[in-house]
Amino acid sequence: MPAVSIRNALWPLAALLVASTRTASLEKRQESLANFTWTSIDPSRDLQYHDCYNGYRCARLEVPLDWTNTNNTISSGVAIGIATLPAVVPDTDPSFGGTVLVNPGGPGGSGVEMVLLFGKYLQGILDGDKHYEILGFDPRGVGSSTPSSSCYANILNRVMDVVQQGGMPPVGLGDVGLNLNYQAAAGFGQLCGQQAGQESIFAHMSTASVARDMLEIVERVDAASNRARINSSVPRGANKKPLLQYLGVSYGTILGNTFASMYPERVGRMVLDSVADADDYISGTWRKNLDDTESVIDYFYQVCFDAGDACPLRQGQDQSAADVRRRVDAFIQTLETNPISVAQDGRVRLLTSYAVRSTIRQTVYSPVCGYEPLAIALANSVLKGNHTLILSGGGSLCTRIMPNHVPVDCSWCAEASFGILCGDSASLAAKDGRNVSWARKEVDFHQKQSSTAGEPWSRIPLSCVNWQFKPKYTFSGPFGSSVPVLLLSNRHDPATPLANAFTLSRRHNGSAVVVQESYGHSALLVSTSNCTADIVRKYFSTGQLPANGTSCAADCAVSIPFTACPGLIE
Ligand SMILES: *[C@@H]1O[C@H](CO)[C@@H](O)[C@H](O)[C@H]1NC(C)=O
Ligand SMILES: *[C@@H]1O[C@H](CO)[C@@H](O)[C@H](O)[C@H]1NC(C)=O
Ligand SMILES: *[C@@H]1O[C@H](CO)[C@@H](O)[C@H](O)[C@H]1NC(C)=O
Ligand SMILES: *[C@@H]1O[C@H](CO)[C@@H](O)[C@H](O)[C@H]1NC(C)=O
Ligand SMILES: *[C@@H]1O[C@H](CO)[C@@H](O)[C@H](O)[C@H]1NC(C)=O
Ligand SMILES: *[C@@H]1O[C@H](CO)[C@@H](O)[C@H](O)[C@H]1NC(C)=O
Ligand SMILES: *[C@@H]1O[C@H](CO)[C@@H](O)[C@H](O)[C@H]1NC(C)=O
Ligand SMILES: *[C@@H]1O[C@H](CO)[C@@H](O)[C@H](O)[C@H]1NC(C)=O
Repeated sequence: MPAVSIRNALWPLAALLVASTRTASLEKRQESLANFTWTSIDPSRDLQYHDCYNGYRCARLEVPLDWTNTNNTISSGVAIGIATLPAVVPDTDPSFGGTVLVNPGGPGGSGVEMVLLFGKYLQGILDGDKHYEILGFDPRGVGSSTPSSSCYANILNRVMDVVQQGGMPPVGLGDVGLNLNYQAAAGFGQLCGQQAGQESIFAHMSTASVARDMLEIVERVDAASNRARINSSVPRGANKKPLLQYLGVSYGTILGNTFASMYPERVGRMVLDSVADADDYISGTWRKNLDDTESVIDYFYQVCFDAGDACPLRQGQDQSAADVRRRVDAFIQTLETNPISVAQDGRVRLLTSYAVRSTIRQTVYSPVCGYEPLAIALANSVLKGNHTLILSGGGSLCTRIMPNHVPVDCSWCAEASFGILCGDSASLAAKDGRNVSWARKEVDFHQKQSSTAGEPWSRIPLSCVNWQFKPKYTFSGPFGSSVPVLLLSNRHDPATPLANAFTLSRRHNGSAVVVQESYGHSALLVSTSNCTADIVRKYFSTGQLPANGTSCAADCAVSIPFTACPGLIE
């Protein structure tokens, strides 16, 4: 089992928001979800759409397993699951703006899920003079794509490893903690290596392969449509080749950056929201993520303190936000060596410092919906000794306010994440040899970088220590292009600091950064800003970028108690 549940390492959707007014259509969607099965679609090399999910269209696109060997005519067995939300106009309409591919991050996030949950919201941002189709695809090994990148023969085995992992001491706790977690990660690498041979999907799920799959999707979308024949405004490049239009969030910025660096002449529009550092990512060190995490956490305590009695975590004697914080930090410190057992959900749960750190780390991705339930969960736990909510985990706290989260059925998605991120960093990792001394350095670095989130975060690089697959189709840079990419970042992002956006803008000549004055992971998905939306809409329609460094106000208040965010939460 991986040393960390990665589902939302660089994936804002785990703590997502969905408008409550969408309940009715959601129920319909769940009903149609039960009626629709991906296996009813035969994979094909051209795009053949089928109605699915009540108003969406789905296809399974067959692609080569190995993009370095594409001359085989036999079936590759790899099919990419695709779901699109059609544009509100037919694609023969002059106002049709083409298809926008989206990726929600992770790695290992499902683009199909993103379209089902956020397609209409994103279409609402993009549509103006032009109208767009929103296309989500599940990267190789993920979600509806086949084959699945699973390391376990059955779910019970996976659950047993998760439980075993949950009882281990923190990685920061001396040699015992580090060695146990290191061994667990090494065993996980061994297990994945056993389950699947070198011709398995694990050897072919690099980000470069996914970027190549995206190019294939762009070409197949073009071939399947009437667009070539009409006078449409869909952007085309040299030799009338169709161009990518893309919106990627979090790890999705690595995917977009990789595509732009590999195929700069094939980019039409590209919006990268919450920018991850590609050089750091492929080196497998994950050191450019937590620079601003503590400031987002401090802001949580400030909002709580400012809320007065409305914040259950604040006590009468508190003089400042730091006093509120000190109480929680002391609680985490105590748990470090004195975990607590709780009989809950019909089994024994262990409340460890890792569990609390993880819940805080994940919840601060979405301050608008997350701060209130986090305050309640921490108050129950720290002040009253009721650990039910804190043990329910950060990803689910927002759903207490916004209950419409539809988790995609992907029990193997943690393995998919590691398949992608460990594979992407495999060639560089081989050089430094990821032994225990290396792991110690990583843990120390991350704990110093973020006293709250560093410990859980360091488990991401640790999880690759014994990874057995080294994909041959990779892209390790140099990252850069002269594509006018639009980069978005919150001023304060707990997983992808603003500095990354400026660093990336120096790599892509003609790009521009928009700074949204808000907190959280993703400018577009966890808050709203008419200013940001206007810029994105204009960029997609005309290609025009704002001045580099443009600042945009956020429209939603972060408060305790929770205040609805119009547009995002209606
Ligand atoms: C799903 O299938 C049931 C039973 O066949 C049918 O009554 C229902 O209308 C279907 N729902 C949708 C959304 O297609
Ligand atoms: C492609 O096919 C040809 C003819 O069958 C074969 O000689 C060649 O080795 C193949 N290329 C690769 C990379 O497998
Ligand atoms: C195509 O667009 C051009 C420029 O906007 C216009 O002059 C022309 O009439 C259009 N042709 C058709 C067939 O719509
Ligand atoms: C603990 O908190 C949960 C969730 O708020 C609540 O349902 C439960 O009744 C509480 N347990 C006790 C013993 O108060
Ligand atoms: C780990 O690797 C480094 C560099 O290769 C080496 O100097 C060090 O001695 C190794 N540590 C252990 C515990 O093997
Ligand atoms: C970006 O511009 C600089 C300075 O003009 C140039 O040296 C560099 O090659 C350009 N990079 C790319 C990828 O076009
Ligand atoms: C955008 O602004 C940053 C910070 O001032 C700068 O470092 C970067 O080079 C600029 N990007 C471009 C493409 O000019
Ligand atoms: C954002 O735009 C919407 C729709 O035009 C409008 O109703 C809302 O008041 C605007 N919000 C702000 C903060 O300007």
